[in-house]
Order: sequence, then C-alpha cells, then structure tokens
Amino acid sequence: MADFDLGSSFIPALHKPAALLPITKHHDSLLYLIETYPVTIVVGQTGSGKTTQIPQFLEHAGWCAEGKLIGVTQPRRVAATTVAIRVAEEYGCELGKEVGYSIRFEDVTSAATRIKFLTDGLLIREALVDPLLSRYSVIMVDEAHERSISTDILLGLLKKIRRRRPELRIIISSATLQAEEFLSFFSENQESADNQVNQIGSIISLKGRTYPIDVLYLESPAEDYVEKVISTVFDIHNTEPDGDILVFLTGREEIDSAVQAIAKRAINLPSGAPLLQPLPLYAGLTTEQQMYVFDAPPENTRKVVLSTNIAEASVTIDGIVYVIDSGFVKLRAFDPRTGIESLTVTPISKASAAQRAGRAGRTKPGKCFRLYTEDAYQSLPDINPPEIQRSNLAPFILQLKALGIDNVVRFGYLTPPPAELMMKATELLYALGALDEYAKLTRPLGLRMAELAVEPMMAKTLLSAPSFDCVNEVLTIAAMTSLGGAVWVQQDGNKKQMESARRKFAAEEGDHLTLLNVYQAFVTKGKKESRFCHENYLNFKALSRAVSIRAQLKRYLERFGLGADESAKAYREGTADRVRRCLTTGYFAHAAKMQPDGSYRNVEGGTVLYAHPSSLMFNRKADWVIFHEVMETGNKTFIRDVTKIEKSWLLEFSSGFYQTK
Ligand code: CDP
Ligand code: MG
Repeated sequence: MADFDLGSSFIPALHKPAALLPITKHHDSLLYLIETYPVTIVVGQTGSGKTTQIPQFLEHAGWCAEGKLIGVTQPRRVAATTVAIRVAEEYGCELGKEVGYSIRFEDVTSAATRIKFLTDGLLIREALVDPLLSRYSVIMVDEAHERSISTDILLGLLKKIRRRRPELRIIISSATLQAEEFLSFFSENQESADNQVNQIGSIISLKGRTYPIDVLYLESPAEDYVEKVISTVFDIHNTEPDGDILVFLTGREEIDSAVQAIAKRAINLPSGAPLLQPLPLYAGLTTEQQMYVFDAPPENTRKVVLSTNIAEASVTIDGIVYVIDSGFVKLRAFDPRTGIESLTVTPISKASAAQRAGRAGRTKPGKCFRLYTEDAYQSLPDINPPEIQRSNLAPFILQLKALGIDNVVRFGYLTPPPAELMMKATELLYALGALDEYAKLTRPLGLRMAELAVEPMMAKTLLSAPSFDCVNEVLTIAAMTSLGGAVWVQQDGNKKQMESARRKFAAEEGDHLTLLNVYQAFVTKGKKESRFCHENYLNFKALSRAVSIRAQLKRYLERFGLGADESAKAYREGTADRVRRCLTTGYFAHAAKMQPDGSYRNVEGGTVLYAHPSSLMFNRKADWVIFHEVMETGNKTFIRDVTKIEKSWLLEFSSGFYQTK
C-alpha cells in the first residue's frame, strides 16, 4: 500500500506559511482586535507577513461564513497578482479558486473565492454596482502609507460605508508610522453612529526582527545615477561577501538599459568567479516575468533585482543583503495651469529612503549604498505629498458623482485636494459632457463614462464613436493605448531593425491609426504565426491582452446598446478622418501645436512638449496634434501616442473649452 497516495485532488502547498514570520506571534491579539473594533490599524515592517498572513488568519477564523469575502486592496496591480499567487500556494489551492485576484480587465476569481486581492481602484469601481460593498465581511486596505489617490478615495468611501454597515471590518495596513492619522480619520464625527462603542479602532504594531544595516553615502554627487548603479553592482560583486542585490531605479527604460549593461559587462568576469544575474521588476512586465525575481538564483550566482519602487513595500524578495538606492522615484504630477499630468522623476522622501534601506536587513546584516551625499539626504522631505494633492482628479470626481456623492468638496478626505485641482477637473468633465452646468452627472453620458473602465477622455471618445461610425476602430485604439507603451519589444541594440519593422505599420496620420494597423495585422497573422511577432518586434503577450481588453470594452458598449457590426468592411472611405475627429471629442484638452523648431506647445502656449522617440510623429511635420499621455524623462516633456488633427475640430468638439481663450 502506498503511504502517501491521497488522490490527485490534493495540491501540495509549495510554500508553507513560515512559522518564523513576526506576525505569527500576534495571531491571537490580531483576531481579538478585529473582532472587537470596526477599524484595526496594523503597522509592521515590510516582510513581516501582513499581506500574506492576515487574510488567511481571518479565513481560518470563520470570517468567510455565508459566502462573504475578505478583500485585500493593493495600490499596484503587480502586488495584487504576485501576492495572490503566493497566498494561493500557501493555502494550497489553484489560483482563482479560494484565493484569487481581480485587477482592471483581469478577473481571476470564482464562486469559490474567499480571499480576493484587488487594486483599490477596482474596489472603488465595485462600489458602483454594490454601494455598500456588501459581499465583503472584511476589507484590508494594504500599503496605506503609500497614500495613492485610490487608497485615499477608498478610505473616504469606507468611512461612509461603515456608518451603514457597523459589522464591516476594516483593516488598514501600513509599513510606516502614520497610524494615528488613519485612526483619527476614522474616529472623526462618528459619535452619533456608535453610541455603544466609544472606541472605533485600535492600532497594533508588529515588531519584526531586523539586522543592523550599514548605510553608506557618496562623497560627491553622482553625475549619472544609472551609470553609478552599474559600477556599484560590480564593486559589490567583486568585494562583498555573498548576498543578493536590490537596486531602486525609477522606470522601465532605465531598468531595461541597466539590466542589459550589467549582463554585457558580466561577460568579462573572470572565469570561475561567481556570476551575476540581473533581473528587472516593474509594472509593465507580465506576471510571469515578475515572478522570476522571487526564484533563488542558480548556484554560484548573485541575483541583482533592478526595480521601481514596487519593491519598496509592495513585494518582498528574500535573500537581499545589499540595497542600492538611486534616490529617485517617478511620481505623478499634475499641473493645474496646463491641465497636463505626467510622470516625473523626483527625489525620494526620507521615509522612502528608510524603507529602501530596510530591505537589506531581512535575513542577516546588510548594507545600503545611497547614490547621493549625506547632505542631499538631509535636504530630502520627510514624506512626499499624497498623490491626491498632485493628480488629475477628473477620474475620481466622475466616480464619486456616479456613487451619488454630489458634494465632492465635502467628501471625507484624509487630506483634502487643493481647490485648484478640483476646479480643473470639474471644468474638464463639463467640457467632456459628463457634468452639466450645475456640476451634476449627466445621464446617460456621464454615468456611462464612469462605468467604462478607462479614463474619462478615452471614455468620451468611445462613447462618441457611434456618431462617427468608427466603433470598431476606436475600440481597438482604446485597448491598444491602455497597454501603456508595451506594444513593442525592445531587443538588445537592434534599434534600426525595430524602426524599420515599425514603419511597416505606420499610418500617415499618427500613432493611434498606426496602433490600429498593428492590431489588425496581429489578429490576422500574429495570433497564428509565432514568428510574426518576433520578426516585427511586437510583444505577443501585450497584444493578446489588447484582444481581451477590447472584448471587454466591447461588452460595455453593447450593454449600453452601442455595439457595432464587426463584419463591416475592413477599409471604408474616410475611416481615418472619422477616427481622428472622434479622438478630438475626447482628447481636445491634450492638444498641441507644432513650432518651427519641431517641438510642440500646448494651447495655452506655456509648456514645451516633444514627440516621444517611440512616436511616429518623432521628427515628422505636423500642425495641430492631440496626444494620449505625457512622460517626463530628464528635463524633457514627451508626448506619446500622437495624432494629427485640424485646428477647427478643437473648437467644434470641445464644448466651449477653448472658446473663451
Ligand atoms: O505584507 P508584509 O510586507 O508584511 O509581508 P508579506 O508580503 O506578507 O510577506 C511575508 C513573507 O512572505 C516575506 O518575508 C517573504 O518571506 C514571503 N513572501 C515570498 O517569499 N514571496 C512572495 N511573493 C510574498 C511573500
Ligand atoms: Mg505587504
């Protein structure tokens, strides 16, 4: 008789919850607090087990009775997916069964799901359908210290929901010590609702064990921090004992080029010497690619993970002994004067610097190499202002209005956004037709815009498409632009060939129609021939995702009664023209005029913009254009996904946005 033949229905737990995690000691007191108080604030160092263990404790303690869910929100999609994979392994279930995740355009849950990881933005969307979030018995707002705009809005909503659902349990988890602020936020104006409970919440601190970390600074500032990162990696590798390296950089382009540079230089390591394995980690990678960083490196190899600030708190990588901190992060910045939101490379805060250094001392004493001087460190702000104070608020105001919160100024904000930002957002939503002159949500347009899972300018474009007879085309463009530039794969050094591959799909009118050509080629050839994507430098995974996103957006439109006949002839007279007009109805606020020197100015004239090198409009002539988004690199402001338009359309399709100017 076979000893361990338990049948195939058992899936071995690949990772057992580590008994040594600091949180294990707090199991009973955590459950007691959550049982007793509506709001529990958990403060604990990254890696102490908050995200992976608390939901499992609660599930075992019976919080999922009667089909209720435990929801755990994350500010980042990457964290929601990787953590769900990990917890499903520990729990011993297939991903999407008892443990699942849900992010925009990707739902991996089922009727069996009890623990659900999701982005906080998505939970706000769920409130549109289920205003009291009644499917959840517990909602854990994770990484609250990051103060993402969605986290802040969600906390405001939960505060409202709690008054109507006293049985709902709210857990706020934070890696830094801002706990009092969260607790007093939930305690404000609560007396009348809770005459029986005078204390609504409690704070618990998890004391993690950490080892000493040596923090080292540069003597003089680095000229090029990416270059400095690379040389520091080799210095560590050549002189320091075993242990993996975690590098903090700001974004995809920087990380990809540093990974390539390290791989290239590593070839010259003396034979027999330990090897180096550089691995990227940023939001644009597929989940599979992201999972590599968690694997132990091969024998005789030092792992180097080059990450954005995802690795600052959202994900924990074991085995890290050395941290290299560039001192920079990419942050959202919205300029209310120009109405342009961009991602800008900004110095980090002292809190971030501490958090980054802390990643080094998890398993043994570590070292943190700060690529800036100690004086520069002293001049860093304590914390960065929360995102709600420096973002385009239009998507959130639209959602609050759709949730029936008309007075968005008086909504309970943890930190109120500046009045200027509120005004700018309201102005834009009015010009888009989502709000009427009394700032009330319009129906059906405004309500439908809120329901569509894309930002307001794209939502308006999609909802205008039927009247321009280009629904199929705009659906594709919406799906393709939501990939965030991941359409093309950069392969080491082959820039020239990539460019010529790209030219095959080029449309004279600009990037949006080029994306349309790429998509059409992909669905006719690329899906079947595996070589097609490779030869054309196209990202197969990303394009497959576009197919799925497109189908989901199409279902929304069909639900609104705005479907289109897919069998319509592929080419019709004037399609490009209709698509460009339709894009202008959504993106008029992102219009720019080309200057004699080839740069662009926005309509107010204040901001100098450049076509991104990845854009078809790079080095090409145009007059007026609209663009999808803005990116800042170095000191230059780039526009990406750019299409030529006519000036007269701006006046025709922008409901007075430009008339007074
Ligand atoms: O949320 P918190 O930062 O407190 O910790 P966690 O994400 O629950 O992680 C607890 C521990 O699980 C980490 O220290 C890692 O040892 C491990 N872990 C992992 O190995 N791989 C993951 N994808 C997530 C967690
Ligand atoms: Mg966590």
